[in-house]
Amino acid sequence: MAVRPILELPHPALRRRAKKVRKIDSSVLRLAHDMVDTMRDAAGVGLAANQVGDFRRVIVIQLPEEDEARVYVNPEIVHREGTREVEEGCLSIPGYKGFISRSLWIRFRALDHTSKTVRLRAEEMLSQALEHEVDHLNGILYVDHLGEHQKLIPVSSEPDAEPDGATSTEGASGQPEVPGVNGPQQLSDQGADQRESPASLKVG
Ligand code: NI
Repeated sequence: MAVRPILELPHPALRRRAKKVRKIDSSVLRLAHDMVDTMRDAAGVGLAANQVGDFRRVIVIQLPEEDEARVYVNPEIVHREGTREVEEGCLSIPGYKGFISRSLWIRFRALDHTSKTVRLRAEEMLSQALEHEVDHLNGILYVDHLGEHQKLIPVSSEPDAEPDGATSTEGASGQPEVPGVNGPQQLSDQGADQRESPASLKVG
């Protein structure tokens, strides 16, 4: 087991669609174990395989109140109901959060690590995390769900919470820019609403 580097925007692996797993063999289990280690090391709630550069449809989730991680292979959201506004972040887009719309609840299906089919109805943070991680497997990031005029918000003005030097740039105005984020989204120039703990935002 090992902690693997988490790829960050704009790494192209984050935009690739992962492929269905045909057989849950030792190689898939090794990947899943490494992903659990990596997620815990980063204090995240979930992680998808393409975030560590693997293109098999594997996600891991561990809610703050849970003692064990969940491993889901070939996960599918089979039904979505309602919408709600949530605050969200991503381990692959460190230092930022955004407010987006997610489902009120979902029905979900996957294989667990023993190849058994799991079906569940999820709401609250589990539903949000499952939608976030399944999005990752389809090459979708939460910033893609930001509406027009919605902004990414820096979670902290602390230097160590900013994207690292290798991937961040300073805009002409002196405001940081998020690499790879295009379209109408802009960074907040006020850094508004920094009350929440960044730890609660790292969905994965
Ligand atoms: Ni993520």
